[in-house]
Amino acid sequence: MKELESILNNNREWVDSVTQNDPGFFNRLSGSQAPRYLWIGCSDSRVPSNVITGLQPGDMFVHRNIANVVQHNDLNVLSVMEYAVKVLKVKSILVCGHYGCGGVKAAMEKHPHGMVDNWLRPIKEIYLAHQQEIDSIEGEQNQVNRLSELNVEQQVKQVSQSTVVQDAWASGQQLSIHGLIYSLENGRLKNLEVSKTDRNTTPNVFHVSE
Ligand code: CO
Repeated sequence: MKELESILNNNREWVDSVTQNDPGFFNRLSGSQAPRYLWIGCSDSRVPSNVITGLQPGDMFVHRNIANVVQHNDLNVLSVMEYAVKVLKVKSILVCGHYGCGGVKAAMEKHPHGMVDNWLRPIKEIYLAHQQEIDSIEGEQNQVNRLSELNVEQQVKQVSQSTVVQDAWASGQQLSIHGLIYSLENGRLKNLEVSKTDRNTTPNVFHVSE
């Protein structure tokens, strides 16, 4: 009960301080949301999307899973993307990985971790595609970090090639997808410069007709 107690106490204090600074805050937000961003990140407790970006409630629609993986048969992420793009009309999708990702590390290992090994299969594929480069890197941590970057790049591709994003681009909607990586060591976000900004930044085979 103690854990719950402190959560509820924190919440009361938070409500008090928000209301003090902005008395209309909850009234305004309870009406509707119009977030500018969709965040697709890792579930890791050390990478809380709103906190590390300094954004407020209402600013960001969020989907998080282990190792920020986007698969075209995952109804969860597809539903989140569809709602964010079609209904909320977010301007940007931010795919954010982080250095030292336990999910990425697990994907590089040979011993079993349970159910999550199935979830992480696509990251093993990325490892396989870049094995020469990754294996030539000194130190396990550095290898995990490089694969974490490559994973973000791949998931940006996955998002940009999705039916949701391709449909949006075909209808002329303005939408960008960006790849970021977060450092647990210094709290900094880095732009991996793998952005996709319109359908011409994706292979023709994924395009849909208007
Ligand atoms: Co992680």
